[in-house]
Amino acid sequence: MNIELKTATLADIDEVLALHYKYQVDTISEEDKADGFITTAFTEEHLSGLITQENGLFVACINQKIVAYAMAASWAFWSQWPMFQFMIKNLDDSTLSNHIITQENSYQYGPVCVEKSVRGKGVFEYIFNYALEEMSSRYPVMVTFINKINIRSFEAHTKKTCLEVINTFKFNNNNYYKLACHTKNKKSPNSQEID
Ligand SMILES: CC(C)(COP(=O)(O)OP(=O)(O)OC[C@H]1O[C@@H](n2cnc3c(N)ncnc32)[C@H](O)[C@@H]1OP(=O)(O)O)[C@@H](O)C(=O)NCCC(=O)NCCS
Repeated sequence: MNIELKTATLADIDEVLALHYKYQVDTISEEDKADGFITTAFTEEHLSGLITQENGLFVACINQKIVAYAMAASWAFWSQWPMFQFMIKNLDDSTLSNHIITQENSYQYGPVCVEKSVRGKGVFEYIFNYALEEMSSRYPVMVTFINKINIRSFEAHTKKTCLEVINTFKFNNNNYYKLACHTKNKKSPNSQEID
């Protein structure tokens, strides 16, 4: 099975939204919740902004079907959501190996989503590394956050990528890990094969 990685275009929005709403908190099935969910309810308008202003939507396709997406964008783009306004305000509360993190030298990655049928098969590492590589020419540092109740996402990101926990924080009664990495610091080539 071949995996194709690409930067999404406007033509991909409908398929990405279909994948997104399968695992978004308001529409995910009860049985899938334990493997993580996405909180933000993205609209077509949000995604077209992400694509046209930021070139920040990355997708993985198998047999021409989108099976994963990852988002990445400037803090200016994310500032339309209160959660990110909070993160921006507190960007300087931690460093990455003594490097100061600013709105100019960093961007925010996430959410990421992998279709349930291909989880645990290396698709996560492919889409993560692809998004990181694409953003590395624009920013030296990537920042993200993971809800402490999303154990699967935390395990995947801390075991299979170069991200490290740099702080924790609370927002809207949820507890989060704050993570960061240098964008040129790809952990390793994908070790797993897609079968
Ligand atoms: C989070 C996500 C992108 C990770 O991709 P994935 O393909 O599922 O990741 P993997 O299966 O390769 O890695 C997950 C790891 O967590 C482990 N894991 C899963 N559930 C676990 C649990 N309850 N406790 C401890 N470890 C757990 C898995 O065993 C695996 O580690 P292993 O490969 O060493 O066994 C995917 O599960 C997903 O899209 N979830 C729904 C949306 C989401 O939560 N997105 C992230 C938030 S923005």
